[in-house]
Amino acid sequence: MHLSDEIISEFNRFFKRARECGEQEPTAMILATSDGAGLVTSRTVLLKALDETGFVFFTNTHSIKARQMDACPRAAATFLWKASGCQVQLVGTVARVADEAADAYFSTRDRGSQVGAWASDQSAPLASREVLLERVKHIEQKYEGREVPRPSHWTGYVLSPETVEFWTQREYRLHDRFLYRAQDGNWNKQRLNP
Ligand SMILES: Cc1cc2nc3c(=O)[nH]c(=O)nc-3n(C[C@H](O)[C@H](O)[C@H](O)COP(=O)(O)O)c2cc1C
Repeated sequence: MHLSDEIISEFNRFFKRARECGEQEPTAMILATSDGAGLVTSRTVLLKALDETGFVFFTNTHSIKARQMDACPRAAATFLWKASGCQVQLVGTVARVADEAADAYFSTRDRGSQVGAWASDQSAPLASREVLLERVKHIEQKYEGREVPRPSHWTGYVLSPETVEFWTQREYRLHDRFLYRAQDGNWNKQRLNP
């Protein structure tokens, strides 16, 4: 189900506050994925877009997270904004974005990161740093004087939440928690105990 305007504006409000309070990486979120057989893994990724379909981040499709999301298209993510004393938690489904959207974002990355996306076989064993830097050199030579295209093994995923929880730190651990849950075509809002 599409996110409501209320949820998007609440997220933007929390995000703005985190930035104003000096949060260094407000787009960083801890993404948890599963292989569907009980193994859960987590890591940091950066939020690159948000619209009514959900929260978009980019990664290598050969990575552990991507293989897990392809096998089990459900994920959770947590933003911790310590500077503003806030947290946002998402739980939902994941899907790859359209190739055009991935191309559009890839073309905005700096050239070094574009080359890096080709050079890194993310999450696979690497014999040495020299091997990686050698690959970087090879890719730079290959695309010298022309645009670096998006590798087909690098794309975006959209996490479409079924629940979104906004948490705000309060005195004596009497924190505020508001949970939005998608139910029968509506978003229900519920206050939770801290
Ligand atoms: C602040 C920060 C931001 C990161 N952003 C991304 C990202 O947007 N996409 C990505 O694939 N990895 C990102 N990483 C690296 C991942 O945390 C992780 O090491 C990598 O994606 C491999 O994860 P996996 O083996 O679990 O798939 C970031 C790491 C940090 C510390």
